[in-house]
Formats: sequence, structure tokens, C-alpha cells
Amino acid sequence: MERTQVAIIGAGPAGLLLGQLLARAGIENIILEQRSADYVLGRIRAGVLEQGAVDLLREAGVGERLAREGLVHDGIELCFDGERHRIDLRGHTGKAVTVYGQTEVTRDLMQARQEIGAITRYEAEDVSLHGVDGVNPVVRYRWQGSVRELACEFVAGCDGFHGVSRASVPSQVLRTYERVYPFGWLGVLSETPPVSEELIYAHHPRGFALCSMRSRTRSRYYVQCSLEDRVEAWSDDRFWDELRQRLDARAAAALVTGPSIEKSIAPLRSFVAEPMRHGRLFLAGDAAHIVPPTGAKGLNLAASDVHYLSSGLVDWYRRGDSLGLDHYSERALRRVWKAERFSWWMTSLLHRFPEVSPFEQRLQRAELDYLVHSAAAAGALAENYVGLPY
Ligand code: FAD
Ligand code: PHB
Repeated sequence: MERTQVAIIGAGPAGLLLGQLLARAGIENIILEQRSADYVLGRIRAGVLEQGAVDLLREAGVGERLAREGLVHDGIELCFDGERHRIDLRGHTGKAVTVYGQTEVTRDLMQARQEIGAITRYEAEDVSLHGVDGVNPVVRYRWQGSVRELACEFVAGCDGFHGVSRASVPSQVLRTYERVYPFGWLGVLSETPPVSEELIYAHHPRGFALCSMRSRTRSRYYVQCSLEDRVEAWSDDRFWDELRQRLDARAAAALVTGPSIEKSIAPLRSFVAEPMRHGRLFLAGDAAHIVPPTGAKGLNLAASDVHYLSSGLVDWYRRGDSLGLDHYSERALRRVWKAERFSWWMTSLLHRFPEVSPFEQRLQRAELDYLVHSAAAAGALAENYVGLPY
């Protein structure tokens, strides 16, 4: 039987970042990932990093390319009634966010892991957890045709929303909270210059739209779509037409279109599982919670969980101090619920909800109006968007 100190399930940003921080602190770990490395790198997801996540990536030794290629954004724009209004993130908070794709974060972490020679088993099938409520957990899995066992001291469940880790916690121990939204986001990646210097979050009677980017030559755009929508029904032309209609005239005129490199639909969900620990199993990232992407918090929450978990494990291995691990769930959940509230609020503020009354629609517009004309309200948005300190 193979042995390690921490078995990490999942090689998404949470698992890879945790693995890197632990390895640098001299704590052995092995990552088991269901998919291939190429598949993991092919997933286009988040794009906005809070300063806390940037700092943590630097601490993990992968800050160099991020510092060089990441785009620092001092503000975002809200667009409604045909006009754009800037929220000055730096002016309100003294802080900014960095636009750098999740794919790039993952690539940097994978490369760093390879350089230090740490083990990642890609295409590990049928992962199952055993004995996590004791002191000698075992992870069983199938790899290259044979069944293997990994003995460890702790298991980090970083295997996303559909993973096996959360499902291994007995249902009487776990409380879950969930909201599923009645729409999705259709996203397009294209090799075209971004329509604007800063991100545009647009509220429109036809639905929400977001203009984001990955670099000065690559754009990421989203439009709110129906849950029944299929990607195949959205030609590139149809997508660009729909996006243009939801923007202000200046942005619509400036929009440079081109063939899509990637196009996908994501449902929107809020979800929290409590507690984030069961015995020697610790959940981190999407395995424990999901936010709708409107607040750009998913990846950032994965990073803050990893910060608390890695420091708890380091204290345990260096000094036998269990305080950080004992308080992990409580500390992580305080931050999670703040991000859940903000992401839910941003989603409610900016989307078109089917079956809302005209009264509620007017309230939504009044709230947007209040937001862009009240320094206190804009400041609260900015404070949440740039992220709270760890
Ligand atoms: P994941 O990235 O999901 O990684 C989990 C890993 O575990 C995966 O590699 C998976 O293959 C692996 N795994 C799963 N099951 C098993 C198993 N049984 N055994 C072994 N390995 C397993 N956030 C934003 O801020 N903005 C966005 O635009 C945005 N878009 C998104 C679009 C989609 C379709 C999704 C799913 C998420 C999106 N997010 C977005 C959220 C953000 O990408 C996540 O919060 C972030 O990826 C969380 O990282 P993670 O490492 O916790 O989970
Ligand atoms: C993205 O660039 O993919 C992105 C940016 C901001 C969000 C969500 C997604 O709120």
C-alpha cells in the first residue's frame, strides 16, 4: 500500500494550490484526479482574482507569470438604460482585482508541481474514501487497470461540486443550503480585443450580459440564457447579435467580433454544505460550496479555503497544534457566507428573472440607480468585489 501525509482528491485550482503550499512546507501529498491533465486545462471558467488569491499564488511560488501577464483592474462598469457607470474599486477600497484566467492559474500550478516532482495521478477512477472518522484514512481508486490503495493522515476533498468527497460524509452530519436560479450563462471565448478596458456588467430587459477578457487580444463574453437553451442553437452570429443588443450604443459599436474558440452554457447555483470537516476529511472549494459567477467569487473562495486549510495543516505538522484544523470549517464558512450573500445579491440585481412583477422590475432599476449615485452603496459593492482580507 502506498503512503502519504495528505491525500488530495481533485486537481482543480483548490487541489493544486493546496498541494503546492503543503509541498513547499515539506508536507508530502499525492493528488488523485479523475480526468486527464488536458481535460482539466481545457475547462474555461473563472477570470477574476482578488488580491488575497494573488498573494497566495505568489506564496505558492507561481506568482511570476501572473505578475507579468495579469491585468490589474481598478474599476468595473455597470451598464443599464443604455448608459455605463463606473464603480471605482481602487477609489473606494484602495484595492484592485487581477484578470488572469483559471486555465492559466491551473497551468502554472501544474508546471510547478511537475518541477518539484510531486505526484499527481490523472485519470484515477472510482475514487472512494475509507476510515476518515479514524486516524488512518485510506483512499481506494483504480489506476491504469488495477485497484490501488493510498494510506494517509488527512484527506483534502478538493473534487468540485460533483465529487466523491462531500458524498462520503454521512447525510445526518451534513447540512446543505441551496438555491437554483431559473437561467444560465452562455459563454464565448474569442481571439478578439476586449470591447472595453474594464469589465462591463450589463442589465437589460433581454437579460444580463458580461464583457470580460483574458488578455489584450482575447475576450470572454457571457449572456444570460434560458435553462432549456442548447449551445448548438447559438451560432456565433446569433451570440454577437444578442450581446450587442444588451450593451450601450458605444460598446455595441466598438464590439469586435470573431469566431468563437469555446462556447458553453453553465447553470447558476448557490450551495453550501456545513460543516466543511468530517473527522480527517476536509472539504475545500466547489466540493463544499457553489456561488453563481456574477460576483466572480468561485475561484477566490477556493483560494481562501486553501489558505485556512494549508495553514492549519502546517501548524499541525510543525508543532502538533490542532487549533487551525479545529477552526477550519468555522473560519472558512464565515467567509463563504459573505461571498454567498454578495453573489446572490449581484445575481438578483443584474439578471432578468422570469415571472417577476412589474413592481419588482421597477425596484430592481431603482436599486441600480441608487447604487451608482450613492457613494456608500457603490463603496459596499466595491468592498465585496475586491474581497475581504483572509
Ligand atoms: P474544480 O475546478 O471543479 O476542480 C475539481 C476537480 O476534481 C476537477 O478537476 C474534477 O475533474 C476533479 N474530480 C471530480 N470528481 C472527482 C472524483 N470522484 N475523483 C477524483 N477527482 C475528481 N467562477 C467564477 O468566478 N467565474 C466564472 O465564470 C465561472 N464559471 C464557471 C463555469 C463552470 C461550468 C463551472 C463548473 C464553474 C465556474 N466557476 C466560475 C466557478 C469556479 O470555476 C470554481 O469555483 C473553481 O473551479 C473551484 O475550484 P475547485 O478546485 O474547488 O473545483
Ligand atoms: C470571466 O472572466 O470569466 C468572469 C469575470 C467576472 C465574472 C464572472 C466571470 O463575474
